Amino acid sequence: MVDCATNVRLPGPPPWLRSRLVEALDELGRYPRLDAARTALARRHGRPEDEVLVTAGGTEAFLLIARALGSGLALCVHPSFTEPEALLRGAGHAVDRLVLEPPFELDAALVPAAADMIVLGNPTNPTSVLHPVEVLEALARPGRTLVVDEAFADCVPGEAGSVAGRRDIPGVVVVRSLTKTWGIAGLRVGYVLADPEVVERLAACQPQWPVSSLAAVAAVASSEHRAVAEADGWARELAGDRERLAGDLAALGIEVVPNAAASFLLLRVEDGESLRAKLGALGIAVRRGDTFPGLGPDWLRVAVRDRITNHRVAGAFATALGERGSARPSVDRIYR
Ligand SMILES: Cc1ncc(COP(=O)(O)O)c(C=O)c1O
Repeated sequence: MVDCATNVRLPGPPPWLRSRLVEALDELGRYPRLDAARTALARRHGRPEDEVLVTAGGTEAFLLIARALGSGLALCVHPSFTEPEALLRGAGHAVDRLVLEPPFELDAALVPAAADMIVLGNPTNPTSVLHPVEVLEALARPGRTLVVDEAFADCVPGEAGSVAGRRDIPGVVVVRSLTKTWGIAGLRVGYVLADPEVVERLAACQPQWPVSSLAAVAAVASSEHRAVAEADGWARELAGDRERLAGDLAALGIEVVPNAAASFLLLRVEDGESLRAKLGALGIAVRRGDTFPGLGPDWLRVAVRDRITNHRVAGAFATALGERGSARPSVDRIYR
């Protein structure tokens, strides 16, 4: 089975990172220290250390935000990763949804003034849309917390569009994940970048030793110049591969959400459930869209892989559509 359903980039850590983790096994007898990870992450983003909090993945960061930060009304921009909303609700926040329509661009004017916490992904899972920094700037204001989930920010060459290094936008809390880029979902490591007072409040909700020493090693290693350059090289390659795959799928008459910026494409097809089953029978797993607010069963998310795999994926779509007898490309259904 070719896994185009999950959005992790690698099936496991690259050899250089694996070696660093193996070398660190001897440290497991001691309780973890996170100072080196904090220093490395602060340096990577050009921020003081007291603006960085190392967490057990982006998911722990969302839990801390939900527990530590108050809100009168939290607004979750959808379709998007649903965990932040679930955690906010679980912690007792009043939550509203702003459900965007295709092509899923965010207009700051759509956000109610009463929302004193906004949560959005940039680029967004599953739409792959990157909201321009100007839109984030327009949303930010003193007294409002703007949570920007940047789990896929390093899919964009030069991390254009990231606000990780921006200390001048009021109320911004950036959540980053290291798990997808480096094939370490099982290790659980991510971090928050925010002003020191927010970091302190989040840290106060963490248990002792929230992040393992191996996760801390991964945070240091992935912040080094060589790793950042490797991720950037991959982002540049991804852009070409993604454009080719989008073109191949669009040529089959499939709607491809335009301006994709992350490592996946969001598609709208006819009879999505049966198409997904047919693709499965052809050895290609794609992600159903209907678990994301605002999307129904005809939306599918497909990961962009290497060129040969993408070619195979497009071929499987062609076969599956052909089997269904509705494969005639129709140009007016293609977003451009
Ligand atoms: C958009 C987005 N943000 C954050 C996460 C959380 O990632 P992790 O907790 O592994 O860092 C995920 C995981 O799927 C995600 O899709």
